Amino acid sequence: MTYRDDVEGLDASILMHPRVWEASGHVENFTDPMIDCKQCKARFRLDTLTETISEKNKEKFLKEFDPAINTKEISLEDKINELLEDQNQSEKFLSVINCPQCGNKGTFTQPRKFNLMFKTFLGPVDDSANVIYLRPETAQGIFVNFLNVANSSRQKVPFGIAQIGKAFRNEINTKNFLFRTREFEQMEMQYFCKPGTDTEFYEEWKERRIEWFKSLGMTPSKLRFHDHPKEKLAHYAKNATDIEYEFPFGWGEIEGIHNRTDFDLSRHQQFSGKSQLYFDDESKEKYIPFIIETSAGASRSFMAFLIDSYYEEEVNGELRSVLRFHPKLAPIKAAILPLVNKDGMPEIARKIEADLRPFLRIFYDDKGAIGRRYRRMDEAGTPFCITVDTQTTQDETVTVRERDSMEQIRVKIDQLLNYLTGKLR
Ligand code: GAP
Repeated sequence: MTYRDDVEGLDASILMHPRVWEASGHVENFTDPMIDCKQCKARFRLDTLTETISEKNKEKFLKEFDPAINTKEISLEDKINELLEDQNQSEKFLSVINCPQCGNKGTFTQPRKFNLMFKTFLGPVDDSANVIYLRPETAQGIFVNFLNVANSSRQKVPFGIAQIGKAFRNEINTKNFLFRTREFEQMEMQYFCKPGTDTEFYEEWKERRIEWFKSLGMTPSKLRFHDHPKEKLAHYAKNATDIEYEFPFGWGEIEGIHNRTDFDLSRHQQFSGKSQLYFDDESKEKYIPFIIETSAGASRSFMAFLIDSYYEEEVNGELRSVLRFHPKLAPIKAAILPLVNKDGMPEIARKIEADLRPFLRIFYDDKGAIGRRYRRMDEAGTPFCITVDTQTTQDETVTVRERDSMEQIRVKIDQLLNYLTGKLR
């Protein structure tokens, strides 16, 4: 956020007035279709049921559903999703498939809509009049604060508001570690622009966001856009794309970029009765800004970075596991390691630690053989290890070992901070 003078930071509330979620459409539309197996009671999301069926069974079920289907010429997954989405066909298709959990056939209930928002109660009385929701996205906190931020920061359209924070969704099935959880971290930015300039900003943010992942070292060939076809766009969206990463379990969305038009501010204006018109003092016009949204999962992206940077390699006949994090992402920037716990080395190492700690997140480790300590830091993705050895006591230099090349060079202690900050940048 500090890189741009046209984007403000915000920390909005997790609990907001329930009308906010009526205005946003979440109370009515934020649902997943759900089915239950009547036999084993397992619960599934209808729209992701294909993911739980093996390729062999996909073909078998499709043939059973319609022997005339040529399974060689279609994508089995797309065909099944098409059938499940079609209300007239889904009942018949569900009757020919086996429950992925207990294996029984034809045991599914009819699909039901399940709202993903977590509910709680405001105040001491647990009744329907006091229901409030844990936010399922951080975006709405930005929309309802749009004029507040515009007026207090004196930003002029086009400008953005960004926030990082927890979001909660009562997902029917959580899976794949951090990929789908019920409590997760989002990092969203809403860019407010004049109607008519929205397509240009949408294209610009698409490129900026995929470049952001690449600039932090994510493998370019494992990143792609998945543009939403017009007929599948959400009711508020003019354009939408997902940035997808190729996880070991397949391609998955890590960020969505949407042209949300003036839908959100218009709805909040309608439901709150408070004008959301922006006065453009250059053109002297009043309008409701269009919004380009960049909506990333912080926890999901973190998992993608974690997977992307994990390597195993053989070094001197031993397996080395290393997280090749971009230095900006590495949780520990440098480790300070006295070679032995005597001969004045720990004292020098502690002094280096005290000098560097105000500027960098560092880790002091004096336990075990130096080779093992290097390996531990490789596993944590620490880009630099600083070792205090016998020569340090003579010429005030230390070795700096670089994680990926494992090369070591000698650096004067009083040059260390400069050296490290230069490399970490
Ligand atoms: N404001 C728009 C919005 O929330 P979304 O596609 O529903 O859009 C944005 O969510 C991002 O949040 C996704 O790309 C994903 O990275 C992350 N996300 C969504 N649901 C998640 C879940 N259950 N667990 C982890 N991350 C999730």
